[in-house]
Amino acid sequence: MKVVKVSAANNTLSDPGAAVWNGIPGEAVPLAPAPVALTRDVSAFLTLSADHGRVRSVQVAALHNGEAIALRLSWAVAEPSDAIRDLDQFVDGAAALFPLARDANAMTMGAAGKPTNAWYWKAGKQDPYDVIAEGFGTTDRRTAEATGLSVSAGYAGGRWQVIFRRPLSGAGNSITFVPGKSTAIAFAVWEGRNRDRSGRKSVSGEFMPLHVGT
Ligand code: HEM
Repeated sequence: MKVVKVSAANNTLSDPGAAVWNGIPGEAVPLAPAPVALTRDVSAFLTLSADHGRVRSVQVAALHNGEAIALRLSWAVAEPSDAIRDLDQFVDGAAALFPLARDANAMTMGAAGKPTNAWYWKAGKQDPYDVIAEGFGTTDRRTAEATGLSVSAGYAGGRWQVIFRRPLSGAGNSITFVPGKSTAIAFAVWEGRNRDRSGRKSVSGEFMPLHVGT
């Protein structure tokens, strides 16, 4: 996957209708239910889950303007959920995961000493979370302000469209993007109406290369 270099203002990058996104088709990333059997050490209950992760594809595209990066995720869901209206209902969500250590794995969300960094959007919430994880049961939600992360989101035509934006250089313990260099990325999508939350979700599998264009 490539982060395409464009010349546009930061706010324009967060605008899904901006012309700068025209001609950036992005790619359809296949998703599968998270293999929750892996989480048996943190949650025996979660391992019983068998009907999660119905969302099977997410369209992704990425731009940067030399100062900030914008990541657009779009996926189909028949009935959006942006508020918890009942005990067994959850909200839709989406996340991108990045390795903070060369040999960190996405399918375990990192491990002790091999951290990962996630950008996490929950429907109905103004601000995203900037999350650090070193394996299951370790996720630490940081506020968006801590790293300058922002999100714009909307639901139309049966699809959610979410655009994360953040400065290329990461503050503190967070991912940094360098034009001309590569890192890696993985994705997760939660469908609230299907009671998806925490490990009950659709995931894109192991990290895929992410090259930052010049
Ligand atoms: C590969 C892409 C993945 C991404 C982008 C991702 C992202 C996230 C994010 C952002 C959270 C925090 C949610 C919150 O704060 O409420 C989270 C939590 C969690 N994820 Fe993942 N995840 C991925 C893969 C997986 C896989 C493969 C599993 C299980 C097999 C898993 C199991 C969990 C569990 C159990 C939690 C609950 C919190 C915790 O254990 O600390 N994740 N994930």
